[in-house]
Amino acid sequence: MKVSGNLLLFTFFNLFLLATLVNGSNDDERKPYIVYMGELPEDTTSLVDEHDSLLSEAIGDVSKAKEHKIHSYGRSFNGFVARLLPHEANRLSQKESVVSVFPNTILKLHTTRSWDFLGMPETVKRNRAVESNLIVGLLDTGIWPESASFNDQGYGPAPHKWRGKCAKGANFTGCNNKVIGAAYYNLDPGPWEWEPTPVDTDGHGTHTSSTAAGRAVKGASLCGFAEGTARGGVPSARVAMYKVCWAIGCSTMDLLAGFDAAIADGVDVISVSIGGPSFNYFEDVIAIGAFHSMKMGILTSCAAGNQGPASYTVENTAPWIFTVGASSIDRQFHTAIKFGNGMKTTGMSLNTFSPKKQMYPLTSGAQAANATARIYGNASTCDWGTMLEKKVKGKIVYCIEGNGADYMINDMHGVGTIMSTDLYPDVPFSFLIPAALVSVKEGEEIDKYINSTKTAKAVIYRSKTVKMAAPFVVSFSSRGPQTISLNILKPDIVAPGLSILAAFSQMTTVTGYDDDKRIVKYNIQSGTSMSCPHAAAAAAYIKTFRPKWSPAAIKSALMTTATPMKIKTVDVELAYGSGQINPTRALHPGLVYDINMDSYISFLCKEGYNSTLIGLVTGSKKKYNCSTLPHAMGTDGLNYPSMHLQLTKPESTSFSAVFYRTVTNVESRRSVYKAKVKSPEGLSVTVIPMTMAFEKPYQQRSFKVVVKGKFIKNAKRLSASLEWSDSKHRVRSPILIYRTPHSR
Ligand SMILES: *[C@@H]1O[C@H](CO)[C@@H](O)[C@H](O)[C@H]1NC(C)=O
Ligand SMILES: *[C@@H]1O[C@H](CO)[C@@H](O)[C@H](O)[C@H]1NC(C)=O
Ligand SMILES: *[C@@H]1O[C@H](CO)[C@@H](O)[C@H](O)[C@H]1NC(C)=O
Ligand SMILES: *[C@@H]1O[C@H](CO)[C@@H](O)[C@H](O)[C@H]1NC(C)=O
Ligand SMILES: *[C@@H]1O[C@H](CO)[C@@H](O)[C@H](O)[C@H]1NC(C)=O
Ligand SMILES: *[C@@H]1O[C@H](CO)[C@@H](O)[C@H](O)[C@H]1NC(C)=O
Repeated sequence: MKVSGNLLLFTFFNLFLLATLVNGSNDDERKPYIVYMGELPEDTTSLVDEHDSLLSEAIGDVSKAKEHKIHSYGRSFNGFVARLLPHEANRLSQKESVVSVFPNTILKLHTTRSWDFLGMPETVKRNRAVESNLIVGLLDTGIWPESASFNDQGYGPAPHKWRGKCAKGANFTGCNNKVIGAAYYNLDPGPWEWEPTPVDTDGHGTHTSSTAAGRAVKGASLCGFAEGTARGGVPSARVAMYKVCWAIGCSTMDLLAGFDAAIADGVDVISVSIGGPSFNYFEDVIAIGAFHSMKMGILTSCAAGNQGPASYTVENTAPWIFTVGASSIDRQFHTAIKFGNGMKTTGMSLNTFSPKKQMYPLTSGAQAANATARIYGNASTCDWGTMLEKKVKGKIVYCIEGNGADYMINDMHGVGTIMSTDLYPDVPFSFLIPAALVSVKEGEEIDKYINSTKTAKAVIYRSKTVKMAAPFVVSFSSRGPQTISLNILKPDIVAPGLSILAAFSQMTTVTGYDDDKRIVKYNIQSGTSMSCPHAAAAAAYIKTFRPKWSPAAIKSALMTTATPMKIKTVDVELAYGSGQINPTRALHPGLVYDINMDSYISFLCKEGYNSTLIGLVTGSKKKYNCSTLPHAMGTDGLNYPSMHLQLTKPESTSFSAVFYRTVTNVESRRSVYKAKVKSPEGLSVTVIPMTMAFEKPYQQRSFKVVVKGKFIKNAKRLSASLEWSDSKHRVRSPILIYRTPHSR
């Protein structure tokens, strides 16, 4: 899947997707490009004409321009998509009115106990009347409105501010007072088949929507697993779905169309469980879309990515985005396996199947090899076409790694598979047949047993739910440091993303394979895709009590009240940012680190974006000029709720940094806050002043944090924290100094 991004659902080697993507049938070399033009002009009546004339100039032919134009954006920002040749794209990028021109890319397809676990029981204090006026917008795979989670009984008509539509389409039963909007974008479908419909044939969009805003449904479970009341974080809120992901993935031009619509339609928060590599902000559609939503007071929550535990993998890192990694809840699934020789082991999977026999014959891919097969592949890893059906039929097959082994072994009438891998030891995946992952070491024992006898046997039991110590950051969750704005810590926070039960589409199966007979109303999935709607809903929940807060203030409240992780991963803050969200505590953060539009602009100036570009992005009404704006001060240049310094030269050992911050009092009482610093040896953190007094609400106070220190030997990281506290609130910011271990 070497495309540029994905729906951030985490599946075990989902290897069959996208094989057909390579072959675009364009007879010429034209490819879709996004021409991004920034803010909408005051008068939008001639927008489309302007796009057409820009395009004709670039192509040099009016009729050809018409033919190659794909779409005009123009509800929330300015721009268009057209099929261009590279030199035409280049010509357009020189135009004064154009911010950036970049090729369309495909971002690939990257309980509730979870809400109880986050300290939001079903009985949590709610402002239901206000909540029912909130609209959660999701850019995803569509929605299956028939789910009980989207039953609209008891919901009034859509809020007045709603300006969106409900698209019609195949197998889509329509919107209701819960799912108030549904749109789909597939601007340039190319040669592959697709149904023009907002219905969810994947399950992902139904899952994320119900995690954010599904109504409470009793007795939900996946085949008996995780049984309980399934509900969203803001169960009274409404859902608006913008389907931008299709069988081949999520096109950036479609994503941008989703943002264009969602912002104009009047949603209150946007959830985007999609990602790809990070770019310069104004060539990154999620950063662009989130920027315009931020301007309209809408927070965009994004998945941090599933490329962990490797460093430098975090995605969606623009500072106006809420970047969410995946944490665990305290529930895990274990799968017991027993062997003919009495050996027992515990595997990882979500195995819904109960064995029908006491034992099954056991073999390995290597033992089942087709000795004459000349096909590229390796039988030990159970690669496609390397095994003999007669040796697999009726057996459980042991595979090293086992890319898609469940699918292949099922196809050859095998009855189960045991796969060995040390990747992702904490993630229970669903498989098509009875299956489990074991460690490499356990795998070797199993292999030895298989080789030692002609009558090897095993049985894979139905999984069991077990309690575990939590929360921790899940292995797959993408880690910092980020690579775009080096001194902004990402991810911002973590939220549950491991084995989350939520509503599912009945137009697909548990694993998504056609051969899977399990069509379910609720499914258990893992990924930062699942974390993202938790954070979006938490933001919406805060908005019900704090309707006037800016997206940055909401983000700050959730970050400064987050729970730092007790179970540490080696990369601590680079894995979890400020910690795990705690929505009820975030209602009373005491102080917030707010960021307004001008501060983001000064930050962009500091990051090297020039005045022309910034002028276009922010609109013509206000001409920004970096050299006349207040200077973004300090190491990071932004009033961010966390503090971070990346030293990109491995040889540097001493460092110093200054962080300038301004906090706003959001409680009505008088208060005095005192600074408390925790810092390790070798790191000095000075806060000036150490005490701040507030007499009235919305009063602001500024302070600075001076950090000095020295790395010893090969140390890479120094973690500290600053906590402001009065008698009632604790306002915590992680401080992380990170040294690149090698030249990048
Ligand atoms: C609708 O759903 C049915 C049943 O799942 C499926 O066979 C069909 O292909 C879908 N699409 C249309 C256009 O009916
Ligand atoms: C084994 O591999 C050979 C060579 O690829 C192939 O011709 C043959 O059909 C395979 N045997 C079976 C039983 O699949
Ligand atoms: C087949 O895979 C196994 C396990 O990964 C490996 O040890 C072996 O070298 C591979 N064989 C070939 C021919 O690549
Ligand atoms: C088991 O036998 C296979 C060949 O059938 C071989 O590739 C593998 O290395 C053996 N495993 C062990 C642990 O000896
Ligand atoms: C800003 O950057 C663009 C693109 O790099 C360039 O064409 C333009 O001349 C720059 N403007 C200023 C004022 O430096
Ligand atoms: C920005 O302001 C500086 C200083 O006032 C001036 O020299 C420069 O021409 C201005 N740039 C633009 C693009 O207006």
